[in-house]
Parts: sequence; C-alpha cells; structure tokens
Amino acid sequence: MEDLSPRPGDLDPIETASRDEIAALQLERMRWSLAHAYENSPFYRARFDATGVHPSDLKTLADLAKFPFTTKQDLRETYPFGMFAVPRQRICRIHASSGTTGKPTVVGYTLKDIDTWGAVVARSIRASGGRPGDIVHISYGYGLFTGGLGAHYGAERLGCTVVPISGGMTERQVTLIADFKPRIIMVTPSYMLSILDEFRRQGRDPRESSLAVGIFGAEPWTNAMREEIERAFDMHAVDIYGLSEVMGPGVANECVETKDGLHIWEDHFYPEIIDPVTGDVLPDGEMGELVFTTLTKEGLPMIRYRTRDLTRLLPGTARSMRRVEKITGRSDDMMILRGVNVFPTQIEEQILKCHGLAPHFQIELTRKGRMDTMTVHVECTIEAADETARAGSESELAHHIKSVVGVSTRIEIHDPGGVARSEGKAKRIVDNRPKE
Ligand code: DLL
Repeated sequence: MEDLSPRPGDLDPIETASRDEIAALQLERMRWSLAHAYENSPFYRARFDATGVHPSDLKTLADLAKFPFTTKQDLRETYPFGMFAVPRQRICRIHASSGTTGKPTVVGYTLKDIDTWGAVVARSIRASGGRPGDIVHISYGYGLFTGGLGAHYGAERLGCTVVPISGGMTERQVTLIADFKPRIIMVTPSYMLSILDEFRRQGRDPRESSLAVGIFGAEPWTNAMREEIERAFDMHAVDIYGLSEVMGPGVANECVETKDGLHIWEDHFYPEIIDPVTGDVLPDGEMGELVFTTLTKEGLPMIRYRTRDLTRLLPGTARSMRRVEKITGRSDDMMILRGVNVFPTQIEEQILKCHGLAPHFQIELTRKGRMDTMTVHVECTIEAADETARAGSESELAHHIKSVVGVSTRIEIHDPGGVARSEGKAKRIVDNRPKE
C-alpha cells in the first residue's frame, strides 16, 4: 500500500500546535460556548441555574466538571427544536437520528456550523490520506442521517470530486467504482463488506480497483475487520467517528500513517472520560464513557454530552491532539450473559479468526425461563460450505468465543448471503427476549 503520510504544509497549524496552545484555545472557546448556551438557550439556563453554576465559574478547563451533563433524553424532552440556541430562522439545516425507541433526536446547524463541519471533515479525509483532486465515492446515506451530507461537504471543502451515490443499489455502486475510478470511499464498514461481495459476484478483482483509502465509521468495527478489508481491497482502511448530537462524522479521525486510534479535533470538541455510574471525570488512559462539549457550535451547543460510547483518552501521536482508542463498544450494545459483559465487536473478532466463515453476522438474544441465550448467526464462505466444513467452523467459533470472551453461545451457520445485510449501520443485535 502507498505511503500516505502528510507532506509539509498539508496540515492546519493547530494540528501540530503545542498542548499549551491547544489548551489556551480550548479555554477561550469553552468560555464562549458556556456563555452562549446560558444566554441563548432557555434549556441550558434552567439546567445551569438548577445546578447552581454560572458560565463565569469556569476558570480552568477542569472546572467544566462542575457543569451538568446533557443526555439524549434531554433532546427527546425538548423535541424538536427546544434546545437550539439561535432563533429557528438562523438554522440552515436539520438532521435527525431515528433511534430505536421514542422520538427521533433532532439537531440543527447555522451556516457557520456547516462551515466548521465541512472543515473538520476535510481535515479527517486528509488525515485518512485523501488529497485535493481525489474522486470520493460517498456511500453513507444522504438525508436526515449525518453521514452522507457530512462527508459530502467535507470532501468538497478539501477540493475533491464527489460522487454522492448514498447507500443501496449495491450492483450500481460497484459499476460506478469501476467506471469513475474513485481513490477514496466513505461508507460503513459493514456495507463495505456487501460491496466486496458484489465485486466478487461481478467477477471483478477488488485488489485491482482504483480504491486506495476507505474511511469507515458510524458503527463499531475491529482491527481484525480492518485487516480483512485492507487485504481484500489492497487499500488503507481508516476509522472516522462522530455523532449527530455533537456534529456528525468528523469529530475524530485516525491518521493513515499511524492507525493507532482516532485524533479528536480538540479545537472544536472537548473530550472527557467519565465513570458511567458515578459521573466522575477519569484521568486520561482510563476506560469509561466519552463525553463531549462543543467549543464553537452555534445552533445546538452541547455541554458535557454523554455519548454512551466506551473508550479511553490517549496522548497525541501523528497530531498533537489527543486520541480515543478505537471505539469497540457502546453501553447500549452491551449484553450481559451469566454475569459476563459481551460486545458485538468481541464476537466479530472471533469470527474473523475462522477461515471457513464470512464476516457477516447477527447476534440473537432469547430467554428460556430465567436464562438468556445468545445465538450467533454467521455465514460460511463459499469454499467452506459443505457439511463437514460447517461443523468444523461451528465448533471452532464456539471454542474461540468460550475461551476468549468467556461465554457459551449457540452458533448457527448460514449459507453465503443468508444473514441480513445492511446498507448503512449494521444491526448486530436482534433481541427476541420477551418484553418485561
Ligand atoms: O453515525 C455519524 C457518522 C457518520 C460517523 C458517518 C462516522 C461516519 P449517529 O447516527 O448519531 O452519527 O450515531 C452516532 O454511532 O455515538 C457511536 O456509537 C457510533 N459510531 C459512529 N462512528 C463510530 C466509529 C453517526 N467510528 C453513534 N466507531 C456514536 C464506533 C461509531 N462507533
């Protein structure tokens, strides 16, 4: 694979600034953001007043811990526009995430916010190895989901040629990749696997494709999956993170030259890690829930937003801004089986160790009496589809999961194509337990 390290002059000055410079900028911007939220959003004013804090209480970055958290529930309760901090007329764009239960969460952006978002996504694409002039194939969904339009504005901002294909119509995705020869693809890692299958179905060698970099996010994925995709396409696979409430894609991104976790664009998003139970701030390096405070956002400032994503903060490497370790779990996806915590990514890792299995899977939860059972539905590869090979894969996977993750599972091996595919975020858990 190509060496895609940045060339001198490629980076924004702040990407290589000293920690002191970054902290000074953060403090100044955090003061602005807290005051903006307090003065212009009745929601935040009431919340701060109820907690007995005032923006002027922030003297140092650590003082942020005095301020109350914001949660998804707050967005639901103020649905649709109740948390905005500018008059609705100044909001130029709405996005929303459907969520599995209840009302969608709605977010709004001013023109300046859209501009900032474009800049951080452009920075993310560049960190991934993208350059002005590249053709960027965007298969993230366009619409209320932030993936498509977020990626789009960033790619245009970097000076790329954008192919806004959105998700779905996989056959056409592959035809257009073959015809337009994009260097970059932006898509969920699970949908990239469907695109890979379609390459093979059409008799095309994915390693011969024009793709040099994939920028994958919107769902957890493992380093084992990275290796799988990099090998299949002979391309770099880089991680992009973000969430609608904070902005959308481009809150943090890996650097292609290190692939060692995601640098948070700390000049716009201030991270904290908290103990999810007590809410206490944890020191860098400790595992906990990621919390963000937006530093420059006008439309919908987020003060200490609890993401429910579990990770740890690490010092900068390829950039001076801090990293988060690859996010392999969110508290919502944690399954507890006979006292053992299990995340879908742990299952993904074990599946990728088994040669006879394809990386398409779903986890079904059922309950018999008081016992929860986990069934892993996974596909065999075409080469390992006979009965003996399937039986071998089944016991191999059960063994890996038992010995590494520590739980007993049922394994169901399906024919190639037999497990539900997604064209966006994969649905990893199907909960068929009776509702309490
Ligand atoms: O998924 C924004 C996005 C679009 C990010 C495209 C990257 C690429 P939401 O739909 O609001 O926004 O979902 C946000 O998705 O809290 C994480 O749990 C998860 N997530 C997003 N990126 C990653 C990632 C978009 N790289 C939620 N790794 C977040 C793991 C991710 N989880």
